[in-house]
Amino acid sequence: MDENLQNYKDLETDIHDATRLLSEGGLVAFPTETVYGLGADARSDKAVARIFEVKGRPSFNPLIVHVGSVEAALGIGEFNEVALKLVDAFWPGPLTIVVPLKKEAGISSLVTAGLPTIALRMPDHKVAQAILEGAGVHRAGFAIAAPSANSSGRISPTSYVHVKNDLGSKVDLIVDGGETSKGLESTIVTIKENADKEDGGRGTVLHLLRPGTVTVAELEQASGLTVESSVLHIHEDGVGSDGNDGPIAPGSLLRHYAPRARVRLNVLEAEEGEAVLGFGPDDRHEGHFYNLSEAGDMMEVAQRLFAGLHYLDGLGASIIAVRPIADEGVGVAINDRLRRAAASSLDK
Ligand code: TXA
Ligand code: MG
Repeated sequence: MDENLQNYKDLETDIHDATRLLSEGGLVAFPTETVYGLGADARSDKAVARIFEVKGRPSFNPLIVHVGSVEAALGIGEFNEVALKLVDAFWPGPLTIVVPLKKEAGISSLVTAGLPTIALRMPDHKVAQAILEGAGVHRAGFAIAAPSANSSGRISPTSYVHVKNDLGSKVDLIVDGGETSKGLESTIVTIKENADKEDGGRGTVLHLLRPGTVTVAELEQASGLTVESSVLHIHEDGVGSDGNDGPIAPGSLLRHYAPRARVRLNVLEAEEGEAVLGFGPDDRHEGHFYNLSEAGDMMEVAQRLFAGLHYLDGLGASIIAVRPIADEGVGVAINDRLRRAAASSLDK
């Protein structure tokens, strides 16, 4: 068992308390396999409003709703055949699917920022599942709205300590579930019917709204569809553009994941005094250094990325230099987060 994990009894008590607090409209930070979430009852305007307040999150940025079962998801969103295929292949797991919202589900309009769609996900984490199950026993259709449990624009939390340092006493409870196993926020997709099918268009396609550890190749394989990217492209000068005419996740803010330090990307030779975020068995640096994966395994790099940024930032580094990471597989998601961190540091 993870040595950071509290003993079993404490965890049982926390899960019980989390369930009660959420049912009463409280705010609870809890672990998922991706990052820690800041949860509230998705049907309570009052509780959801507190999420936005505590995070300092702009109200136009909608939240992901977490469910404990496929049934619960089907009560909240309209799932077509393609969406069901994705559910089958990836749930529970780090894939969020944006589908049309069922009004009768009674989800607070603050959650969706007034959009006719809703982002749903079923986390693959025993603590998150126990909390969802516990709260659902007394309230049918219960679901948890939860963004990442960090102040808006800052680095996402992958451990109890990260949440504690950032949000501390502003939340009613932080449940400690050790370090998260995936380390990056979920992949987000939506399904789009192309109107121009007759002109040689591709009919139904998947739109990638945010890259994550579920990769484009995995999505294409499971769905049999083409994945088009609607992810905001970030240029060297820190200016972003939508790569497509498609929808973008409204919250995919260009300046995000901001450490206190400036972030420099693709650095092979760091300058003196810079802290280095690297990986691989031979990576070395005189001075502050964090090895994301001794083995050079990109899934491990993803898992430890935010912890590495938190760590070097905590040492008071003024510049964090990051080694180049290949833009393939999970590297796409890693680079997406790093480019946003670097873009945010241009303001410094
Ligand atoms: O892994 C995760 O997804 C974590 C854990 C806690 O589950 N949650 C998370 O939430 O990353 P957050 O709020 O940090 O990111 C939610 C993203 C935002 O970019 C938001 O714009 C997008 O989901 N989103 C939510 N509803 C949407 C919708 N109806 N259409 C398009 N994008 C949506
Ligand atoms: Mg976030």
